[in-house]
Amino acid sequence: MENNVIHIGIIGLGAIGERLMNLFQTREDIVVSAICDTSKARLQEVAETFTITNKFTNYQDLLDRTEIDAVYVAVPPKFHEAIVLAAISAGKHILCEKPLANSVEEAERMVDAITKTNLVHAMHFPLNYQASLQQFEQLFKDGYIGELRRINLKMHFSHWPRLWQQSDWVAGREQGGYVLEVGVHWIQAIQRIFGKITEVRSQLHFPEDPSLCENAIIAEMKLENGTSVLIDGLSNIGGEEQLEFAAYGTDGTIMLRNWRQLLAAKSGEALQELEISFGNGNNLISEFVKAIHGEKAELYDFQNGYDAQVVLEALRHPINNDWQKLN
Ligand SMILES: NC(=O)c1ccc[n+]([C@@H]2O[C@H](COP(=O)([O-])OP(=O)(O)OC[C@H]3O[C@@H](n4cnc5c(N)ncnc54)[C@H](O)[C@@H]3O)[C@@H](O)[C@H]2O)c1
Repeated sequence: MENNVIHIGIIGLGAIGERLMNLFQTREDIVVSAICDTSKARLQEVAETFTITNKFTNYQDLLDRTEIDAVYVAVPPKFHEAIVLAAISAGKHILCEKPLANSVEEAERMVDAITKTNLVHAMHFPLNYQASLQQFEQLFKDGYIGELRRINLKMHFSHWPRLWQQSDWVAGREQGGYVLEVGVHWIQAIQRIFGKITEVRSQLHFPEDPSLCENAIIAEMKLENGTSVLIDGLSNIGGEEQLEFAAYGTDGTIMLRNWRQLLAAKSGEALQELEISFGNGNNLISEFVKAIHGEKAELYDFQNGYDAQVVLEALRHPINNDWQKLN
């Protein structure tokens, strides 16, 4: 690493890969020194837009470059494991997209491999750095809602895949669907704020085409203390997209609506939108950089990714509509 500048390689240049590429470009302590995508057309387009000369269709060619300190893996979920394991062998620090993998077994192998190294490993779970969720968490910890009685997650989509993410895999059953794409953000956040999810009972509904992902989910999960977490997911319906994450307590309710809007109410009051006035100011990329420089950082790592994957896979793979106990 020269002059403390981190050389990063990006593998996967789709909707989200480009989003982080734009963030990397705003920094002086990071150089995107190589990019990789199996789509030649996409690779060429991104190389031209961002003036990057080292471009590869095979990720191993990128990993073989010795000047690269870290990689950002932004390919669809079923390709995470192979690329992450190769990146570990190449000794690169890793920022991986969520979900960590496409099965618990894959996620476990990734955690096993990374924990044998001193490499930095981080997941892109952006909710953790969002002031609205941090303020939600603070209200909860300050006792605003009293004793927690229930958590509800509502995911209603007029279009799935959403109009900004029209990739085939997102619509597919193998590695797509909104339980995986969207649900995993909230599973991770729930476990961070409220503790481990220990039981899951899930009902999924699918369209007739066996290649397509769920069009509905009704699920109940339990926290260690028995508190229920309900999931109500529905797609391809009328109205606008509605995403609501709410914690109901003996004295009050707090809710995040459409990711960023924070609402709260005490018993008998109407929900009111709160101004976002709280937040630790951390962001994932700065924290990733700090960790690579050996400083203390707020990162959500592969273990957090694994813990979310265990719950995610129980939701995606119901067993006779019965409760599944999670280890
Ligand atoms: N953190 C978030 O908020 C967030 C949001 C959306 C998506 N994601 C995650 O990001 C990842 C990518 O999602 P997306 O919407 O950008 O997908 P996308 O389909 O738009 O892009 C994926 C890109 O990866 C390329 N690719 C596929 N296999 C490859 C391989 N083996 N080697 C190199 N390139 C390969 C494809 O050609 C494509 O350009 C997924 O894991 C998804 O779950 C995260």
